[in-house]
Amino acid sequence: MWPYPKIVAHRGGGTLAPENTIAGLRAGLAYGFRAVEFDVMLSRDGIGMVMHDPDFGRTVAGQGSVPETDAIALAGMDAGSWFGPQFAGEPVPFFTQFIDYCKQQRIWMNVEIKPADGFEAATGDWVAKVTRDSFQAEIAAGDPAAIPLLSSFSFAALAAARDAAPELPRAYLLDKIPADWQQQARELGAVAIHTNQKHLTPELAAQIKAAGYGLFCYTINDPARGREILSWGVDGFCTDRIDLIGPGFA
Ligand code: G3P
Ligand code: MG
Repeated sequence: MWPYPKIVAHRGGGTLAPENTIAGLRAGLAYGFRAVEFDVMLSRDGIGMVMHDPDFGRTVAGQGSVPETDAIALAGMDAGSWFGPQFAGEPVPFFTQFIDYCKQQRIWMNVEIKPADGFEAATGDWVAKVTRDSFQAEIAAGDPAAIPLLSSFSFAALAAARDAAPELPRAYLLDKIPADWQQQARELGAVAIHTNQKHLTPELAAQIKAAGYGLFCYTINDPARGREILSWGVDGFCTDRIDLIGPGFA
């Protein structure tokens, strides 16, 4: 139920590089990671960009937002300086640049569909179509470990992804697992539940695994906590501390 890597670098290279940048992917590789989670949001002109926050001010300077800015302008923004001067000029990546880099380096991708408010269906649809078109050979070959996993907190985004590219696997992201989780997951045709490690219990983990779903947690930065949740039957997790928790962590 979990053909994917167990330990995944969160937002590119965790806290070792500016989040959601190619520099982050490079940092992940330097620590031996060949599995990454990152966030994709649509620009004003409807292009998927690797960004977490809709609003500027944290990882890129200034005012404004991703859904109000064209892709080419976003790609010219500095997403590295906030993290450190050695990363000055590190651009906001196009989703397609992340795909190209990850394919080249054989990095497995957990693509989090991160829609700005009001763009849920459009973002799910776009990400699913572009991912499907980029992984046609891998999908035809049918090796699940070579195919990206799409995930989202947005039910509407995942439903749109399901309708656009039903052949791509989907994971439903839930901060807290609600009572009707299984009904929602079934409706989405999800293969896995991704959940906040803070709210997970051994009972819930057992329930999700017994129902046949993959179970993945975000975000674990403490090795002891990592061992604990793995002992509950959790299949994998993402980490910011790629320096403390390596790809072979057990
Ligand atoms: O995909 C798991 C995790 O990334 C969800 O939270 O805010 O880091 O995107 P966030
Ligand atoms: Mg994310």
